[in-house]
Amino acid sequence: MKIGGRHYRSVWVEPDGWSVGIIDQTKLPHEFALLRLAGAEDCARAIKTMQTRGAPLIGAVAAYGLCMALRADSSDAALDRAHAMLLAQRPTAVNLRWALDAVRDAVRNRPRGERVAAAYAKAKDICDDDAATCEAIGEHGLRLFEQAWAKKGRRGKLDVLTHCNAGWLATVDWGTALAPIYKAHDAGIPIHVWVDETRPRNQGAALTAWELGQHGVDHTVVVDNAGGHLMQHGMVDLCIVGTDRVTANGDVCNKIGTYLKALAANDNGVPFYVGLPHSTIDWTLDDGMKIPIEERGAEEVTEIAGRAPDGTLTRVRVPPQGSAAANYGFDVTPARLVTALITERGVCPATRAGLRALYDSHPKR
Ligand code: MRU
Repeated sequence: MKIGGRHYRSVWVEPDGWSVGIIDQTKLPHEFALLRLAGAEDCARAIKTMQTRGAPLIGAVAAYGLCMALRADSSDAALDRAHAMLLAQRPTAVNLRWALDAVRDAVRNRPRGERVAAAYAKAKDICDDDAATCEAIGEHGLRLFEQAWAKKGRRGKLDVLTHCNAGWLATVDWGTALAPIYKAHDAGIPIHVWVDETRPRNQGAALTAWELGQHGVDHTVVVDNAGGHLMQHGMVDLCIVGTDRVTANGDVCNKIGTYLKALAANDNGVPFYVGLPHSTIDWTLDDGMKIPIEERGAEEVTEIAGRAPDGTLTRVRVPPQGSAAANYGFDVTPARLVTALITERGVCPATRAGLRALYDSHPKR
């Protein structure tokens, strides 16, 4: 995607040919800062601290982390150590495991002298595949947006609600939930996006709003609790979100608060769509309640980060000292509340049969 007229992906190999560049997402939207990651530990830290984030993107960055670990030591033991270390950084998004397994499988049976090159080739494949996959999600989603726009009589704007950030900052390019929004905007459908702020880390207010602004898409940031009210008043034509893990039966795990939006959408007859790439499907699970839910530090709940009037980036505390805080990162939306899944292979019902019909020829993990 373009920032200030220049095309960026969310991760790239630096001119040295081995280290990796990312956008430091903890500084957005106030500063556009780039970071160079020069080892597996750097990649792990960037994933843990969410300098880089979003299910597909953490997989891609971890894949390069494994490449850099192999550069330092190409033995089986080092490969397994780095795989385990990177995997431990975030538990919920299955893309992390998918990407690490893909790199490990690509090098495992090769002589040590070939492993580094094979790992970098696989990491590049993962990135190219993610960009193409997300663009295809955008194309399939566009058809649904065209139908919704026609249903609305092509009057006013198509009002879309999204939660968290499932845009190009969360993937290598395009995004999942935001890809159809960009495609629809580019196709001339007048789109307006309600952006949930997405407490506690505010990925909606900070990242989605910034991305949409860069692309010229009309948007309004709302507090997380506003969605139900908007839907009751006919102000949302459709909801679309990304996901960190979809089970084989279509349960959808995504950023905390997604489930409440799906309930409100169901109650108000608003379509609730989920955009996802193949790397987000966990074929080993049949029940969303079995997905491990990340719990993060209480300070993300008790403090809010932002820019102070003097221009400095700062954090302020909200609750009284001593109040306990809990920080569950994700929740699960049962398949029955999902209108359809939008994948790179097409649109399907959120059911085992629906997913199988699209992916039967795909190698299962
Ligand atoms: O904790 P985050 O910011 O990594 O969570 C991101 C999300 O929940 C996204 O909606 C999800 O990863 C889909 S990304 C295309």
